[in-house]
Amino acid sequence: MKILLTGGTGFLGKQVLSKLVARDEVTEIIAVTRGRTSHPSTKVRVLQADLTSPAFVNELDSAVDAVIHLAGLYDFSKPYAANYESNVLGTLHLLEALKKFAPTRILFASTYAVGIGSKELKEEKLADLPPREHGYSHTKALAEALLESSPHSCDIYRLGILIGDSKDGVIEKADGPYSFYRLMRRASTTLAAARRLPFPLPANPDAPLPLVAVDEAAELFVQGLLAENSQTRIRHWGAYRTDTIRFDDWIQACTEHLATTGCRLVPTYTKRQESGVLAFAEKITRIPAETVHFASWKAVLHNTKFLARHGEAALTGWSGLREAFLRGGDSA
Ligand SMILES: NC(=O)c1ccc[n+]([C@@H]2O[C@H](COP(=O)([O-])OP(=O)(O)OC[C@H]3O[C@@H](n4cnc5c(N)ncnc54)[C@H](OP(=O)(O)O)[C@@H]3O)[C@@H](O)[C@H]2O)c1
Repeated sequence: MKILLTGGTGFLGKQVLSKLVARDEVTEIIAVTRGRTSHPSTKVRVLQADLTSPAFVNELDSAVDAVIHLAGLYDFSKPYAANYESNVLGTLHLLEALKKFAPTRILFASTYAVGIGSKELKEEKLADLPPREHGYSHTKALAEALLESSPHSCDIYRLGILIGDSKDGVIEKADGPYSFYRLMRRASTTLAAARRLPFPLPANPDAPLPLVAVDEAAELFVQGLLAENSQTRIRHWGAYRTDTIRFDDWIQACTEHLATTGCRLVPTYTKRQESGVLAFAEKITRIPAETVHFASWKAVLHNTKFLARHGEAALTGWSGLREAFLRGGDSA
């Protein structure tokens, strides 16, 4: 099997790439990156190219059996234009480059964030785009739409929030829940003299927090690749557990853990989410205001199709991830 992989140098992609290299079914991998020029495996051919450049449309010289498209911008602190360039233009150029060849299969790393603002996220084409002010979500949803209107057979994996490795918690990207955790750790140790301290959180205690270990997310792409291609041309997968924890359960686990080394923070939920307040909080805490929106978004996340293909055991639940998460958070 010959695979085109984008994003293979990233947090998720590194794990996908090493899993692909280890599979006998995969004989050749063309790995697109703007950076490195070589890879130690003889199976891997590095294609040094920028997906956002129009020149990318001429970069592919042969057909592939499947594409795993992970490249994109996942950084809540970046403006809309940067998200658009990376997530939408990058996908558009990839699809243009593939036009020279017969339609293939594309497995795409999307996100549960495409549902922000909705009451539920079904495993199907979105009825509405997320509001434009949620730049990351909006542009990932646009990328989904581009794939849906392409002639390719597409697996759209709407991943939950990626955290460190399920076994040792190793994390190289300390954003999202880790930025909350780091802030709490700082407060807890700085104010260790106080035994209990109210900790204001502009969040919803019932917001779902679909945490997914990065190594297990990577394995989904490998299993998806090897799974029989179904008759349905476009497939959406809600890639998270059914027993997704509530924001408050996660906060309680963090504050309990931190209480052993500092003071016990007592989460105090506030409804104040005016943009001015969030922008001010962003300056002080360096947590992007957009992160707070996700901690406040209460929705039903569907995953029945995902479970039918991958099974609940494909992803470890919070009780199994707790220690790894805290270890990763402490060393981040
Ligand atoms: N992290 C999460 O929690 C999460 C959750 C849900 C979905 N996702 C999705 O999963 C994917 C991977 O996320 P990640 O956290 O692994 O991201 P990451 O660590 O920031 O990696 C981004 C990858 O995209 C590549 N890339 C970016 N712009 C490119 C360009 N113009 N041309 C070619 N390659 C480009 C980078 O390659 P080079 O720098 O080597 O060029 C890098 O390999 C993204 O699509 C993201 O939206 C992530």
